[in-house]
Amino acid sequence: MSVSETTLPLKNAPGVDMPAIGFGTWQVTRAAVAAAAAAGYPAFDSATMYHTERDVAGGLADEHIAPTDRFLTTKIWRSDMTDRGVRSAFHASKKNFGVETIDLLLIHWPQNAASNLETWKAMEELHDAGLVRAIGVSNFDASQLDALAKGSDTVPAVNQIELHPLRQRKALVEENRQRGISTTAYSPLGQGGPVLRDPGLLQIAQDHDVTSAQVTLRWLFQKQIVAIPRSTNPERIRQNIDLDGFVLDDDELARIDALPRQLHN
Ligand code: A2P
Repeated sequence: MSVSETTLPLKNAPGVDMPAIGFGTWQVTRAAVAAAAAAGYPAFDSATMYHTERDVAGGLADEHIAPTDRFLTTKIWRSDMTDRGVRSAFHASKKNFGVETIDLLLIHWPQNAASNLETWKAMEELHDAGLVRAIGVSNFDASQLDALAKGSDTVPAVNQIELHPLRQRKALVEENRQRGISTTAYSPLGQGGPVLRDPGLLQIAQDHDVTSAQVTLRWLFQKQIVAIPRSTNPERIRQNIDLDGFVLDDDELARIDALPRQLHN
């Protein structure tokens, strides 16, 4: 099965399967979304704070794709982290996307424990009402997951965190796994910085006649970590989902796993 057709079951949201790759929409345009839609990205990751929900809807419409035909994620921003705030943010997001239900709704950034819990309870109600298919968090660490668990029996389906070969977050990925939480990697390409110039990745890329971005995304795919790369460049948008022509062997995976942590971990 191709990478773009692969889904991973969300253990804490039974029946919901999440595409293994999606298009990140922070700082991207409607035209980029349209290019990603045309390239076959099965999922789009947005947030109230990005102001790109309408670009997602518009870019899909430009390619004659119904928003309900793609897995859509959005996030509750910190200014909306109250019971009322969650409801109104959700209704705005749903309108922006042009859908009746949202596939995945996340808390964008943790605040204090009380506010996380109030937000979470409101999201649980949206989920119970069938308005969102799965709920989760972003940028939570283990202690914040623990604090949430003290006030709610609903465990997040997803924890979306910054993760790439030079910031592997191994302990947190393991914490997520033990709780049945699926990890999504944002900025999987290290925002186009040193990751893509890493000599170890470049060597593996050369050996497969692909780019370091493709090696990075293939590594995440083989580790069953959802990735949501961003790009505004149509060629790179296509490249980042063109991951089926090569497979990393165990030695290559181990070499990437062992890359020096040049950035803070
Ligand atoms: P651009 O929009 O010019 O393609 P991340 O997803 O880790 O946040 O990285 C996004 C950044 O990486 C953007 O600046 C994007 O620039 C760049 N980028 C995305 N895909 C590639 C690629 N295949 N090769 C090089 N740079 C890329």
